[in-house]
Amino acid sequence: MTSPHLSADGVEAAKLAALEAISTAPDLEALKEVKINHVGDKSPVAKFSQELGSLDASARAEFGKIVGQAKSAIATAFEARSKVLEAQRDERVLIEERVDVSIPARRTPAGGLHPLTILTNEICDLFLGMGYRVAEGPELEAEWLNFDALNIPADHPARTMQDTFFIEPLDSHLVLRTHTSPVQVRTMLQEEPPIYVICPGRTYRADELDATHTPVFSQVEGLVIDKGITMADLKGTLDHFARSIFGPDVKTRLRSSFFPFTEPSAEVDFFFNGRWIEWGGCGMVNPKVLRAAGIDPDVYSGFAFGMGLERTLMVRHGITDMHDIVEGDIRFAQGFGTGGR
Ligand code: FA5
Ligand code: MG
Repeated sequence: MTSPHLSADGVEAAKLAALEAISTAPDLEALKEVKINHVGDKSPVAKFSQELGSLDASARAEFGKIVGQAKSAIATAFEARSKVLEAQRDERVLIEERVDVSIPARRTPAGGLHPLTILTNEICDLFLGMGYRVAEGPELEAEWLNFDALNIPADHPARTMQDTFFIEPLDSHLVLRTHTSPVQVRTMLQEEPPIYVICPGRTYRADELDATHTPVFSQVEGLVIDKGITMADLKGTLDHFARSIFGPDVKTRLRSSFFPFTEPSAEVDFFFNGRWIEWGGCGMVNPKVLRAAGIDPDVYSGFAFGMGLERTLMVRHGITDMHDIVEGDIRFAQGFGTGGR
């Protein structure tokens, strides 16, 4: 682009164009553009300024004055317009970003623990207070630990497809643990007696969901191995457990039973809703299981028990249907003081 030849008219025209552009720029963004075209180093007035150097002394004095005045008029107008537009922007930002502190705050529910978790913690605390340790194991468990090491032979009905969720491929020999008893074996393999552990955890069986059964449930396992442990220790521990959790008036009974990993074995039942409901199994640890875990049954003896936690919760809180515990309706948990409104 060739610049217009330096002349008084040319300078005047450039000045007027600049002042017009400045006064009509609607916002700061537009004003930036105006600066490049009419004010900066590449503007017509700046170019006139550069041309002054090639004039003789008298012409330079004459045009220098004209160009200087035009430049300062433009600069003054530009500054003034900048201030106006900045003030407008500040005012708009104040309005657009205003926070109305009088709007009521939205209440975020505090969240909380599921009643089953509360119960689990309570049971762990009870046993920790008696010198037990909390032990945990995986929910995806080796078939050997879930069954074989517990003296449950390959043809035992509990192993069939009906009860157990087997993991494919079947030669992985993994199952979803059907009880917390494999944690007993893990503990005995890892530790030397005396052993006092409580093992809470989730367990799985191919049971239909009904009022007292769910395919995913929770158990708490207890295991004690020490010198001179007898069935009387087991009975005393269960009585204390039941009274602590249900209160002094709880009605429980021991019913002779069979588990391959305990000898003798018993079921613990409690009386609820007009009938006896099975709470858990228990017994003296079978010497075969002790031996499989490398513990000498001539020196040590022990007891074990495994209770269903959903059923424990049902009895303690008069819940008549297992569905309420497992279906995850927040209103159920809120009845236990869990979560916000
Ligand atoms: C056992 O699982 C043994 N491992 C318990 C045991 C441990 C015996 C230590 C001896 C020594 P059982 O299959 O009976 O036993 O289950 C124990 C408890 O789990 C039951 O009494 C019941 O409270 C709970 N339970 C079992 N199946 C379900 C289910 N589908 N839904 C809810 N709770 C269940
Ligand atoms: Mg049973």
